[in-house]
Amino acid sequence: MHDRVSGRPSAHAALAFYDDQHPPAGDFLADVLDGFSRSPKQLTPVYFYDAAGSAIFDEITELPEYYVTRTELAILDRIGPELSGLAGPGAVVIEPGSGSSVKIRKLLDALAEPAAYVGLDISGEHLEAACQEIAADYPKLQVGAICADFTQGLDLSHLPLESGRRIIFFPGSTIGNFEPAAARDLLDGFRRAMRPGDAVLIGADRVKDPATLVAAYDDAQGVTARFNLNLVERINRELGGTIEADELSHRAVWNPEFNRIEMHLHADADQRFEVAGREFELREGESIHTENSHKFTPNSFTSLAESVGFDVLHSWSDAADLFSLHWLEPTSKA
Ligand code: AVJ
Repeated sequence: MHDRVSGRPSAHAALAFYDDQHPPAGDFLADVLDGFSRSPKQLTPVYFYDAAGSAIFDEITELPEYYVTRTELAILDRIGPELSGLAGPGAVVIEPGSGSSVKIRKLLDALAEPAAYVGLDISGEHLEAACQEIAADYPKLQVGAICADFTQGLDLSHLPLESGRRIIFFPGSTIGNFEPAAARDLLDGFRRAMRPGDAVLIGADRVKDPATLVAAYDDAQGVTARFNLNLVERINRELGGTIEADELSHRAVWNPEFNRIEMHLHADADQRFEVAGREFELREGESIHTENSHKFTPNSFTSLAESVGFDVLHSWSDAADLFSLHWLEPTSKA
């Protein structure tokens, strides 16, 4: 039902619906050429997550220094009963960027008889696999999938599931990857898709002492360094790049002006390289800026949310105030 993918209906057999909104495929090559033509050079973190990068990211989440994942999971465990009360029975959980399967399972397990889970992702293949696993493990849940780019707003108007509250689940401090204006646009896109009574449950990492933050992004075992370097190796693998990865080193720096951790690849020597036949050069000491991970204070997060018409009705943190989860609802004043 509601399968908008023609020609392959049986592929989504386990799903209640599959809504293909046909997101334009990201253009890796064009984005890399554009980023390398800027000064300073930059790459966008969306391309970290090929198969190799996703596997390294899973290793990151287990690192002693990377408190983010385990802290958020512990908060979710603790607040499960409260979330269940807030959500009420029959909730429809929507997960933009679906894939954090451990977290979504914790949430689904905590809720009182959720009615449905809807995964939403730009990669149809990834989406389908993730949703089918949820469907297999939660036989009473209706599971649907929307193939779309969640940074371009959400279209939830075709959900064939009428039930309780819709809850948009956006964990992991993914919001921190967005520049302030883009973070506002993203949340605004969520709010525009919501009806009164719907909610967003969102994870946001907190500003804290720079040593803790830098260690989380520059771990002793060098896993984050491998994660960062995999991006240029991916360019070499997929785009005919000739970047000398051995002459780049991983750097994580705290930028206090913008409250963000920045990841860079620092050139240890001059090098010339090509990508798809285009020539570039890196001078010793120059760096490629690969990621921003913005951190929030309770006030900075609240002003972000309020600036696009949300009220922050609940916030939960761990005892050490490392990480927060927030419950947002569209502001009621007209
Ligand atoms: C997936 C964006 C939440 O910023 O902490 C982890 C990505 N980069 N280590 C983060 C990441 C380096 C991560 N997010």
